[in-house]
Amino acid sequence: MSEKLWGGRFEKSTDEMINEFQASINFDKRMYREDIQGSIAHAKMLAAQKIISDDDAKKICAGLEKILAAIDAGEFNFSVALEDIHMNVEAALTEAIGTAGGRLHTARSRNDQVALDTHLYMRRQVREIQRLILELQTELVNSAEKNSDVIFPGYTHLQRAQPILFAHHLLAYFSMLQRDFARFEGVHARADIMPLGAGALAGTTFNIDREFVARELNFGAIYSNSLDAVSDRDYLLEFLSAASILMVHLSRLSEEIILWCSREFSFVELDDAHCTGSSMMPQKKNPDVPELVRGKAGRVFGHLMALLTTVKALPLAYNKDLQEDKEGVFDALDTVKFSLAVFAQIIAGMKVRRENMRRAVEEDFSNATDAADYLVKKNLPFRQAHEVAGKLVHHCIERGVYLKDLTLAEFKKFSPLFDADIHDAIKPETCVASRNSQGGTSPQQVKVQIAAAHDWIKAHGNDNC
Ligand code: ARG
Repeated sequence: MSEKLWGGRFEKSTDEMINEFQASINFDKRMYREDIQGSIAHAKMLAAQKIISDDDAKKICAGLEKILAAIDAGEFNFSVALEDIHMNVEAALTEAIGTAGGRLHTARSRNDQVALDTHLYMRRQVREIQRLILELQTELVNSAEKNSDVIFPGYTHLQRAQPILFAHHLLAYFSMLQRDFARFEGVHARADIMPLGAGALAGTTFNIDREFVARELNFGAIYSNSLDAVSDRDYLLEFLSAASILMVHLSRLSEEIILWCSREFSFVELDDAHCTGSSMMPQKKNPDVPELVRGKAGRVFGHLMALLTTVKALPLAYNKDLQEDKEGVFDALDTVKFSLAVFAQIIAGMKVRRENMRRAVEEDFSNATDAADYLVKKNLPFRQAHEVAGKLVHHCIERGVYLKDLTLAEFKKFSPLFDADIHDAIKPETCVASRNSQGGTSPQQVKVQIAAAHDWIKAHGNDNC
C-alpha cells in the first residue's frame, strides 16, 4: 500500500528518486497563502451547498487558519513525499482535525486547485509589479523635473542628431512604462478568471456554486469551459510576454546609462552606493546594476520561450508538463520586481553632468537641421536648404570649426538668405525651444508631458493598484 493521498490503487510506494523528480513542493510552496485561501472558500461553498456539514466546514476553516499561521511562522514541515503544496496542506489538515479534513477535496481536483492558486498568486503579484512600475516612473519624472533645463544631444545611429532636453529623453521611458503598466493590467484581467469547479477536467457530479467561490475570492469572471479552465496557461504566457517587453525597456535604459557613465560620454554619474569597484584596477567604478538588469533580460525571455514550448501542441486537458510553468514564472516575477526596485534607486541617485552634455551639443553639428530649417522658413525648398546646410557642415569640418563660429559673411557665401539672426537660430536653446510640435522636445511640450505624467501616476497609484 502506498502512503500517498492517492495511494488506494497502488501496491508499491513511489520510488525515492521519482518522488523527488516529480515533486513541486520546493517551488510551489510559495503559493501556500493562495492555496489555503482557495480551500477556505471551497469549504464554505461546500457547506453552503450542503455538500458537507457546517460543523465540518468550521473545523476545516479553523484548521486551515492554523496551518497558515504555522507556515507564516516558519513552523511547518514541508514534505517532498507529499509532492506539492496542495497535498502538504491537506495532509496536515487531516492530521490536525481528523476525518473532516478528508472531506475538503470533495468536488475538487488538484488540476483546478493548482489553476486557482496560480490565478490568485498572479493577480496579487501583478499588482505588486504595477506598484513598482509606478515607483520607477515617479523617479523618472522627478529626475526630468530636476533637470528640466538640461540640453543634451539626441541620437540616431548612436550619432549626435539633434539637441533635445534630457528630460524629454527620460520621459520617453516613462511612456514605455505606461504601456508596460497597461500590459500588466491585461495580465491581471486574464488572471482574474476563476477556474475552480472544473474538477479534474469535466466538471463535477456535486451541486457546487462557482459564483459563490468567485465572490468569496473576488474574481471578476468564471471560466465557462472546464477543460479550458484546467489547461489554460495564457495568463502566464501573457505575464512572461509583458515581463519580457518590460525587460527590453529596462535593458535599453541600462545600456544608455552604461554608455553615459563611460569616460567617453561622461553624461551621468551613478551614486557610489549603487556601484562596485574592481578587485584589481583601483580607478574603476562599475555600473553593475544596469549591466545586471541588461543581462537579466535574457533570462526572462528564456522563461517565455520555455513556457511557449511547454504548452505548444499539448493535448487537453491537464498534463504534468504544466507543472513546469511555475519555476520560470516565479523566477521572472522575482527578476522583474528586483530589477524595477533597483532601477528606481539608480535613477534617484543618478547625477547629471550638464556641462558635459552641453559640450556634446555645442561641439558638434546637431544644429545642422536648424540651419536648414532657417532657410526653409525663408522659402527655400527643404531639399536645397539641406544641401546648403550640408555644405556648411563640410566647410566647418575642413576648417575645424562649428557652425556657431562662422561669421555672417561666411554664411552668406553659402546662401544670401542668411541674416544676422542665424546665430541665434542655431543656439542649442533655440533648437530645442523651436521643436514645439505636439510631443516634441521644447520646454513647453516637456512641461505638458510632465504634468500629464503626474496626473497619470496619481490616477493609477494606491487605490487602483
Ligand atoms: N503540482 C501539480 C502542478 O503544479 C499540481 C497538479 C497535479 N495534478 C495531477 N493530476 N498530478 O501542476
